[in-house]
Amino acid sequence: MNAAIRAVVRASIYYNLEIFGIYKGYDGLISGNIEQLFVRSVSNILSRGGTFLLSARSQEFRTKEGREKAYENFKKFDLDALVVIGGDGSFTGADIFSEEFDVPVIGIPGTIDNDLAGTDFTIGFDTACNTATEAIDKIRDTASSHERLFFVEVMGRDAGFIAVNSAIGGGAVAMIVPEHSWSIDQLIARLRKGAANQKASNIVIIAEGCQLGNAYAVADQVKEKLDYFDIRVTVLGHLQRGGSPTTMDRVLASRLGVAAIEGLRDGKSKVMVGVVNNHIAYTHIHEAIKTEKRLDPEEFRVAKILSI
Ligand code: F6P
Repeated sequence: MNAAIRAVVRASIYYNLEIFGIYKGYDGLISGNIEQLFVRSVSNILSRGGTFLLSARSQEFRTKEGREKAYENFKKFDLDALVVIGGDGSFTGADIFSEEFDVPVIGIPGTIDNDLAGTDFTIGFDTACNTATEAIDKIRDTASSHERLFFVEVMGRDAGFIAVNSAIGGGAVAMIVPEHSWSIDQLIARLRKGAANQKASNIVIIAEGCQLGNAYAVADQVKEKLDYFDIRVTVLGHLQRGGSPTTMDRVLASRLGVAAIEGLRDGKSKVMVGVVNNHIAYTHIHEAIKTEKRLDPEEFRVAKILSI
């Protein structure tokens, strides 16, 4: 997100616009925690994860009174438009605010979950996948040396994008994602097949929102039916949400930040800027939130072929 903020600030100044940073998300708009940013305000942040503007899940902005206070500050600071970096919740707030007070808004997709339509990738997704894959590589050393079966839980809320990518990238024997119903028996059949094939190490990726329960629950169910594996569980958790962003993420964030300002200059509002087939694309914010972004069946096919 820092890379996106840097791009928004510098693109604004490039186009002779004044730009203000709002601290702590919508809470900062409500309390007036706002200050002007300059070219050097965003020096040396490109390589840092997170956001120097801080972030918050604002409860007050969910209320009409909260949004009225936010609009007071919007006028007080003489703002013309709002650039919102975030996911589902942030965009829903932006959409309502724009509707209620006729304020131009543009969204930049910033979530590790990659669950927004209108963009092939969201900011943070690539970094999260790289962190997960690196962790899986390390776990594999124990999995191989001790011939153990590992269940590794990755984030993604209700979406399996991180799971699919890290499963392919990390060479997992199977992955279980919220979008597909897979039974314990199907998983066991896959594991038995691997064992019959002298598979040296077994790593199963569990997406946190999967229907069979979390990684511990899945491990327990497998243990009941398959006693010859020594089983361990690792939950990667918030490791996936931090750290220095990959080059892919920095480039994506930089492109989207510039395109957000250029979109606003062109009079666009209530859109999310994304990258589709490597081109900048603007999608109505409703569509970005409401359209279900599907996992690519091709990736499932590849993962299955390679897991033998
Ligand atoms: O939406 C991003 C995400 O990291 C999800 O993958 C995860 O379920 C959630 O946020 C974690 O939220 P929190 O930091 O509030 O526990």
